[in-house]
This record gives sequence, C-alpha cells and structure tokens, in this order.
Amino acid sequence: MTKVLVIGANGQLGSELTAELRRLHGEDRVIASDVRKNNGHSDQRFELLDATDKKALFDIITKEQITDIYHLAAILSAKGESDPLFAWDLNMNSLLHVLELAREGHIQKIYWPSSIAVFGPDTPKVNTPQRTIMNPNTVYGISKLAGEKWCEYYHQKFGVDVRSLRYPGLIGYKAKPGGGTTDYAVDIFFKAADNQHFKCFLGAHSMLPMMYMDDAIRATVELMTADPDLILVRNSYNVGAMSFTPSDIYREVVKFAPEFTISYAPDFRQAIADSWPQIVDDAPARKDWGWKEAYNLERMVEEIMHQLSKRAKK
Ligand code: SER
Repeated sequence: MTKVLVIGANGQLGSELTAELRRLHGEDRVIASDVRKNNGHSDQRFELLDATDKKALFDIITKEQITDIYHLAAILSAKGESDPLFAWDLNMNSLLHVLELAREGHIQKIYWPSSIAVFGPDTPKVNTPQRTIMNPNTVYGISKLAGEKWCEYYHQKFGVDVRSLRYPGLIGYKAKPGGGTTDYAVDIFFKAADNQHFKCFLGAHSMLPMMYMDDAIRATVELMTADPDLILVRNSYNVGAMSFTPSDIYREVVKFAPEFTISYAPDFRQAIADSWPQIVDDAPARKDWGWKEAYNLERMVEEIMHQLSKRAKK
C-alpha cells in the first residue's frame, strides 16, 4: 500500500499537493515534512526534516514505511543567485539522497520537480522543444538540469522509478511562493485584492510560460499514476498551459479590480526571465500520458479573483 512522504510540504506547491495526496491516499498515509514548522495549523502527520540530512530522511522512511517520495524542497531561481553554493548543496544533495534510498530499495517511487529554468539564453524561446539547447545560466537552472540527468541516470542504470515535470511559473492563491522569478504573477493578485498599487519587478512585455496550481497538481498526480511503460521521458517532461506578460495579466486582473494600478521597475530578475522560454512545446507529455491543461489566463484570473473576494468577505 502506498505511503507518501512530501519533502518541502510547507512551500507553495507542497502545501496544495500534500492536501490533494491526502485526499487521494488518506490522511494517515501522507507524511508532510519541512525544515520549518508551519505555524498556520497543527498537523499530526508532520515531521521536521532538513532535506540534506540523509540519516534523518532514512529514519523517517523506515519508521513510517514510506513507499513514495515527493521531493519538492529547493531554493528557487532569484534566491539561488544570492547564495549559489547553498542553493547547489540543497538542490543537488537532497535529490541524490532520495535517489540513493530508492536504489538501495528503501522506497519505490519518486516525484521530483524540474523547471523551465533548465533552459538558457541560447534556447529557442517560442515552442521550446522537449529536447533542445539548454545552457541554463542560473544556479537554480544548473541544479535542475543536473538533477534531471541524475534522475534519468538512476532510472536507466538502476531501474529507479523517478518521474519529473518541468513546471512553468506556478500560480495559486492559497500559499505564496518565495524567491522565484515568476512570483510577480502571484503577488499581483494579493495587491489587487487589497487595492494596493503593484510595482512589477519584470517589464511589461516579458512573456513567460505559466500554469494555474490546480493544473499543476493534476499534472503531477496524472504523471505519478500513469503506467510506467507510458513514461518515455525520464529526465523531465515539458508541460505547458498558458503564456503571458505582466501587461496581459494586469489587463485581466483590472477587470475585477477597476481601481487597481501597476508600474514596472525591472530588477536583476529581468535577466533571468529573458533567459527562459516564452512558450514551451509539451507534445511528448500530451502524447505519452495525456496531459491537457484546464485553465487559460482568463479562466485562472476569474477563479483567483473570485476566491480572494470570497475570502475577504469572511
Ligand atoms: N517559478 C520558478 C522560479 O521563478 C521557476 O521554476 O524560480
């Protein structure tokens, strides 16, 4: 029977994915872990865990008889640039520990997220193919590309069942991201809901691939429940849903908050955004395991603004 450990469960993705995994497998069959306690709520099935501590990880896995790990802990693109060696250490060594535990037979299945950050300035920006020039130039991107290759290596050499998606920017309203280049597209909603001016750290016309959190969670669950024979890409799948610029999302948000204003003050994150794809080609994910997004920009903005206004009325 499946028993799941989520590493990095308090993060933007982890908090929503943990809730969905508990719905699917049962509360008691999903252990949440993070390096910090979540002050928001008490959770009986929570373990404090530093993802770089292999012994502590091993102890939880054996104590809880874990079969599947969702390893989400990472330092994101913008934050990684302020301490590159720390980002490398956390992002890389934690993954290698999880892969080793699978090779040694302690766990059966791994999910590990990659990112559009694996691409770099030489990569074709429009309809970026699954296989193309990579050359990332952030430490986050370098660690994700190296991680993808390690996943593929452990699969090919040792038969480890590790699966991965190259997420675009993930947008939700339940938990905030931290330290990413796509975070502006989450922050904008909270400023709009509070009727505050929004100073965007990317330029008005900076286009990036993005995805609504519900789609990201569903993509993850669909990938993880697919027949292993269908998973033909064992480094990481491109997955797309929508692409937009700050001015595109502003235009949609302002429909629900007519007084809301925006200004643009690009900082160091602009160069990171400029090095990434604008639109990804995710044909292999669609063909191999049937990926299809449900949300475009309009539908996502409508949903998030609706949810935030419901929350404000409570
Ligand atoms: N959302 C991430 C970031 O901006 C990309 O994977 O760093």
